[in-house]
Amino acid sequence: MSEPDPESGTTSPIDEEALAEAYNRALALEKAGDLDAAAAAYREVLALDPADHGGAAVRLASMGRGETPARASEAYVATLFDQHAGAFESILVDQLGYDVPALTRRALDEVAPGPFSRMLDLGCGTGLAGEILRDIADHITGIDLSETMIEVTDEKEVYDALYVGDAVDFLHHADVEPFDLITATDVLPYLGDLDAFFAGAAELSVDGAVLAFSSETLPDEVLAGRAFMVGPHQRFAHSESYLAEMLARHGFAGLAIGGIVVRHEMGKPVPGHLVIARRKPAD
Ligand SMILES: C[S@@+](CC[C@H](N)C(=O)[O-])C[C@H]1O[C@@H](n2cnc3c(N)ncnc32)[C@H](O)[C@@H]1O
Repeated sequence: MSEPDPESGTTSPIDEEALAEAYNRALALEKAGDLDAAAAAYREVLALDPADHGGAAVRLASMGRGETPARASEAYVATLFDQHAGAFESILVDQLGYDVPALTRRALDEVAPGPFSRMLDLGCGTGLAGEILRDIADHITGIDLSETMIEVTDEKEVYDALYVGDAVDFLHHADVEPFDLITATDVLPYLGDLDAFFAGAAELSVDGAVLAFSSETLPDEVLAGRAFMVGPHQRFAHSESYLAEMLARHGFAGLAIGGIVVRHEMGKPVPGHLVIARRKPAD
């Protein structure tokens, strides 16, 4: 692994051995409950690997020992889901009861049944949303940071176009026709600040396009007035009022917004929101 050096433009190799030692030490200290020492070790990890393949920044934030980052690093998300792609559906769907693509289909059927000409599935993962929405979308594009997840999706032959890359970057820079359905099921937990996400969704959608997404949340007393924070499992939780603010700011009208159980974690339901919104015509 190597890291680009911003000054010289060259790459300097990461000291993998030192990185593994610091990361394992940090994890062990965190597990033992010595959070201050764990935080110091995670800071060492970040210094050795500024691109943050191990997600040290979200771990620091989840322990209450670091600033809330604006999002999970690209390197972390790609590494995490590359590792889990093979077992993703058996773990998330079969063991953790993840059902958001089906909930999205049901909600769309109720408030915005389509059909749609061009669907964009952001953070498509293994293609569960594409599979369940295939019959109401003529053309489906998927994008995901994890190349291995995209490979699994590709084998299913459900999507018409697939890209490996960052969803927010795609929304702002992709040279493609706009979409009339944009989905993002269980992707917001890897994005904290959603301003660029919603601005991009507005940019790459036609008037009247439908935006369907899910989020995770935490009780009001934990969020304590924050728009978003990193929760105990290193994923971002967003407040419902922040989602509503983002929709309004970027020209989307909410068609349905409701509480859901996103999945189970250690036997407990993980609460979230499912939102279906429509882009208002541009002024
Ligand atoms: C929990 S999975 C959900 C996958 C799929 N949407 C589903 O409902 O089954 C989250 C997916 O989002 C992808 N992801 C997270 N942040 C992303 C980003 N900024 N850009 C592109 N993909 C992202 C991950 O790589 C992963 O495949």
